[in-house]
Amino acid sequence: MTKLGINIDHVATVRNARGEGHPSIIEIAKIVKDSGADSITVHLREDRRHIKDQDLKNLCNKKYLINMEMAANIKMMEIAIKNKPKFVCLVPEKRNEVTTEGGLNLKKNYNLIKKIVTKLNNKNIRTSLFIDPSIRNIMLSKKIGAKCVELHTGKISRLIKNNKNFSKEFLKIKRCSKFGTENNIEIHAGHGLDYKTTRLLTKISNISEYNIGHFIIGESIKIGISKVIKNFKKIIK
Ligand code: PXP
Repeated sequence: MTKLGINIDHVATVRNARGEGHPSIIEIAKIVKDSGADSITVHLREDRRHIKDQDLKNLCNKKYLINMEMAANIKMMEIAIKNKPKFVCLVPEKRNEVTTEGGLNLKKNYNLIKKIVTKLNNKNIRTSLFIDPSIRNIMLSKKIGAKCVELHTGKISRLIKNNKNFSKEFLKIKRCSKFGTENNIEIHAGHGLDYKTTRLLTKISNISEYNIGHFIIGESIKIGISKVIKNFKKIIK
């Protein structure tokens, strides 16, 4: 069965806008889990702009299946080892980016990434590498010892949303997914996905997990807002 991981970073973005506790990360995590999500993704960014250390700790203590996204550095590795999320996905991180802009540069950061992956694998934390879809990146991921890769779907999502030709990017993702599966690497996909892009990617049977955040949170506001307004109308009538 194909899995769905839900990124709840932007629940924290909304909460942090008021610096108080609503909406509660733990409450939303429970709803997400009870709604059938296979895992809950949180990106502990170096600037802590959304998820905070205490959120990660609370979520891991609740024994939810947490997929911790993090930059590839030793300090983050130590935080992961301390909190023991079930999964870790290493991502590149730039201070001023709005969201994760591209995949990891595995060649340039090979030794550091291998060190972190080896350590996390030894601690029974499943490791994944967020990469741009290329055969070379899959081969390097295999050499590094990662159990999974998450293919960055930002480019294909953008092409589809802008009604541009996406067939070349689709083929690239398809080839990488097949090659990864043949090499015993689990293939995940994420970034920029909505209903349309996800539906399209499901034609690639080798993709076994999708990680989706922004669209789900945005769509939830769209679907949920009328219910909340009705609740208030009842209160003030
Ligand atoms: N996967 C990874 C590795 C990411 O960094 C992100 C963005 O935080 C996502 C998936 C989710 O992307 P989106 O919020 O665009 O659905």
